[in-house]
Amino acid sequence: MSNSPTQIQLIQPDDWHLHIRDGEVMKDVLADTARQFARAIIMPNLKPPVTTVDLAKAYRSRIESNLNSLGIDTFTPLMTLYLTDNTSADEVRKAKAEGMVAFKLYPAGATTNSDAGVSDIKHCYAALESMQLVGMPLLVHGEVTSSEIDIFDRESVFIDSVLEPLRKDFPELKVVFEHITTKEAAHYVRDATTGNINTLAATITPQHLLMNRNAIFAGGIRPHNYCLPILKREEHRVALLEAATSGSSRFFLGTDSAPHAKDAKEAACGCAGCYSAFNALGLYAEAFESVDKLEKLEGFASFFGADFYSLSRNSKKITLVKQVQSIPNELPLGNTTIVPLRAGETIAWSLV
Ligand code: DOR
Ligand code: ZN
Repeated sequence: MSNSPTQIQLIQPDDWHLHIRDGEVMKDVLADTARQFARAIIMPNLKPPVTTVDLAKAYRSRIESNLNSLGIDTFTPLMTLYLTDNTSADEVRKAKAEGMVAFKLYPAGATTNSDAGVSDIKHCYAALESMQLVGMPLLVHGEVTSSEIDIFDRESVFIDSVLEPLRKDFPELKVVFEHITTKEAAHYVRDATTGNINTLAATITPQHLLMNRNAIFAGGIRPHNYCLPILKREEHRVALLEAATSGSSRFFLGTDSAPHAKDAKEAACGCAGCYSAFNALGLYAEAFESVDKLEKLEGFASFFGADFYSLSRNSKKITLVKQVQSIPNELPLGNTTIVPLRAGETIAWSLV
């Protein structure tokens, strides 16, 4: 019998991978994240994408004005730029000078708003060279896009065909393998030997720690459990949970909370993305508790990401209690609604 605590205190976490969109809907989703996290890395896959420093600064201002109107002064957005075939070495230097924290690699066609993404990583070598030089991390959506490759294999094929060659060519480039979903990815990061091993890390979402691919088809098709990279078999979930709870500083929290309106998910061609921001910390606590590793949550959620990005750790503490929280069926999203992860069910842990 496990003797689990009913309350845990930890240094306030950060979310190292987050989508908050733009316009009308932004403040609804931002409020959920800012209630729990001190900082978040904001993904640049807007329409049009955030490909330049000027666009990123303008986006940051819109985020700040939403925070102001919500009366929140305890949350810092960390800005990223969207890498394209045409990103110049100069834009990378400018991004560094202006306090942008990373570039995001979307292979063209891999996911939501990735059409302007990279068609061939070789086109980005000048930008990558510059990133390596100035210490600007590359955040990677790690899936190949070829329709001939089975959707469940796209991440593992990416490791061999793109990531490993990239690591050889840029051994000092900081790389975050984002939202990993397979045993192959977890082990690749855990056992890294190519390049400077301190320059590789991975984020893991709550849904990939808590669900396997059966959850997309439980009793019928479940569009709210559909995200990319797609949920995998149980053996992969187990490997991810093992990595996240191992205490290794190479794995840290990134929710990939990706809001889409209810009708865009419940559609003939529904969008990819799980909205986990409503009680993301409760979901992670559940996952860690399921293997009796709650004591490893603080490193994963609050320390390792900041250390990797060479940012200071937070100092404020938060408390999670083992208290069931009911998750609403829908939440407001601008003039429409969104269905959060676990809608209509409960989450075992809540933020005090
Ligand atoms: O499921 C996903 N949704 N995966 C991504 O990579 C993008 C995200 C989104 O922006 O909706
Ligand atoms: Zn994402």
